[in-house]
Amino acid sequence: MSLRLTPDLEVFVLTGAGVSAESGVATFRDANGLWENHRVEEVATPEAFAADPRLVWRFYGQRRAQALTVAPNPAHRALAALEARLGERCFLCTQNVDGLHEAAGSVRVLHMHGELMKSRCSDPACPTAPFVDTRADLADQAELPRCACGALQRPHIVWFGEVPFEMHRIKRQVQRADVFLCVGSSGVVYPAAGLVGEMQYRRSMGERVRTIYVGLEAPANASQFDEVHTGKAGELLPGLLAA
Ligand code: OAD
Repeated sequence: MSLRLTPDLEVFVLTGAGVSAESGVATFRDANGLWENHRVEEVATPEAFAADPRLVWRFYGQRRAQALTVAPNPAHRALAALEARLGERCFLCTQNVDGLHEAAGSVRVLHMHGELMKSRCSDPACPTAPFVDTRADLADQAELPRCACGALQRPHIVWFGEVPFEMHRIKRQVQRADVFLCVGSSGVVYPAAGLVGEMQYRRSMGERVRTIYVGLEAPANASQFDEVHTGKAGELLPGLLAA
């Protein structure tokens, strides 16, 4: 059964870790949020980086090394095909920091939680832009990498307690969407989990909108979706997004 996402519709797609699960990338809640007996919330924070930057670089170095071994799955490819069909009318916002959407052919991808294969200066006042960085062994080097300004370099990732990127642009895209499609997100982390609520508000104001969830289990915000399709994204999306 197709969702009939025709090229005249504006489609906002929000993906979470579930869309990469079948590529072998652990989701946050499946891994019980643990890494080497550290809670991810203890490692992926500005405080953790200030206290032990080498530990944080070891965490991200291992994720970079793993990311180099995985490939897109049919869910990523189905979303890339949707964009090829809809063009500018398909906007893909991902909470994921892997590059699997791009590897599958998606072009317009907004990484609201940052990108694993990028680093940036840790000094917020430094004008140096984030840059592509695939180095996975930084924690093993005698000196941790520093920006030309002297400050430590850090992963270009949104840590707990930090603000996701480009929220204004994301909200503008949600405001113009006819269809909101969320794939593989537990719906527990805001502001991403609140975006579907913007669609419900628009409906309450009389606009014709449609909200669809695709994932292994119903998300915490399932009540905000008109349709919840439960199953693996890699198995469901190709059929649901078929032209
Ligand atoms: P979660 O791990 O919270 O949720 C993943 C969702 O994907 C769950 O609801 C699973 O049921 C579902 N899932 C698992 N395998 C699937 C599959 N094969 N097909 C479809 N769905 C599947 O990950 P997110 O919701 O993405 O934040 O987590 C949101 C944010 O929480 C992350 O971006 C991260 C974390 O804290 C930051 O890094 C700032």
